[in-house]
Amino acid sequence: KAGLFTYDPGFSSTASCESKITYIDGDEGVLLYRGYPIEDLVAHGDFLETCYLLLYGELPTVRQKHDFDYRVTHHTMVHEQMARFYQGFRRDSHPMAVMVGSVGAMSAFYHDSTDIADPHQRTLASIRMIAKMPTIAAMAYKYTTGQPFVYPKNDLDYASNFLRMCFSVPFEEYKVDPVLSRAMDRILILHADNEQGASSSTVRLAGSSGANPFACIAAGVACLWGPAHGGANEAALKMLAEIGKPDRIPEFLARAKDPDDPFRLMGFGHRVYKSYDPRAKLMRDICREVLTATRSDDRLFDVALELEQAAARDDYFTEKKLFPNLDFYSGLTLRAMGFPPAMFTAVFALARTAGWIAQWTEMIADPSQKIGRPRQLYTGHTRRDYVDMKRRV
Ligand code: SDX
Repeated sequence: KAGLFTYDPGFSSTASCESKITYIDGDEGVLLYRGYPIEDLVAHGDFLETCYLLLYGELPTVRQKHDFDYRVTHHTMVHEQMARFYQGFRRDSHPMAVMVGSVGAMSAFYHDSTDIADPHQRTLASIRMIAKMPTIAAMAYKYTTGQPFVYPKNDLDYASNFLRMCFSVPFEEYKVDPVLSRAMDRILILHADNEQGASSSTVRLAGSSGANPFACIAAGVACLWGPAHGGANEAALKMLAEIGKPDRIPEFLARAKDPDDPFRLMGFGHRVYKSYDPRAKLMRDICREVLTATRSDDRLFDVALELEQAAARDDYFTEKKLFPNLDFYSGLTLRAMGFPPAMFTAVFALARTAGWIAQWTEMIADPSQKIGRPRQLYTGHTRRDYVDMKRRV
């Protein structure tokens, strides 16, 4: 059943579950949201259309899209006390630390969403989550920069609203650049879901106990933060900056191949995609567009392109099926849009909330779902007798 966790040794100790939401063919580099190729959704739709599709299983009609957009837009404000909640963080906190705390705090402000047996409450929790995450993420950014919070505006689309809440300042209104808004919207679609990534499994496991949905999403934010997962976009840009120029690439490829060197190519490799991550190709194109639109002379993009090509020519990486993943080009793109590296994973979390809440809803709506209980392979001591303190050496 959807959401049921079963232990399957074939998955080498990972929990597996059934879902109708996202399909990945890692060998062929295929990603489908409810059967629709990611390439089509990015080319023809917008992020809220993808949110609707992930949540309800079908592309919305004109009427359904209008109603959904209206409901999300009219839930983008957060409780004014949330603004005071942020004051408890140090100003130099990482935005993801602020996101973990503030998303978790939403379970206190919207506790009526805990009646998850009620489909209306589940829908309201989903709408609230998708609507408020841009505001929460923008507030985390503003708080850590010392700038005043910017309230959402209902006459802006989802991506434009987020950019404006991040970059508007009292002395200069943010001018929405349609190229950057469209790029941000497509970036959000690319990050919306990816089957049972570690953070999605975290949300499912937390949700399987019946916990408040906001608290479950906060658990997903915490898991996503790690550099092996959603934190890889920040780490990949740091790696590209350390490489600095194409002629240093061989040195770093050698380090990545050295079994005694913990260095890994950040933004490369994937547990499931054993061919090119279909999202990375789309991300590379968006990166090129944004660099052009912002007239960013980002020499690190050339380093990234050369690194990708050098690894593709190296048997070590092709035999281990290590190709760029979603995180390889996203950092370069978000930096060109004006985000500091510390905000890259917050943007990822904002987008992935759509997938997390769709997977949570799928699991909770299944009446037969049980609490998740992954098993273990015990490798410890067999039974042994207690030793009195006096006899221990
Ligand atoms: C995301 O699950 C998802 O869907 C995640 C995600 C999503 O949308 O939710 O796609 C988002 O998290 C993408 C991944 C971002 N992380 C990184 O880019 C960090 C760098 N990548 C690696 O840490 C690594 O590739 C992982 C964590 C992504 C996967 O690690 P695994 O499970 O060890 O990968 P693997 O089993 O495929 O590795 C095969 C081999 C191993 O060597 P051996 O043990 O066989 O000798 O390749 C090696 C790995 O050590 N390897 C790398 C490498 N990634 C794997 N060697 C050098 N550089 C790398 N990047």
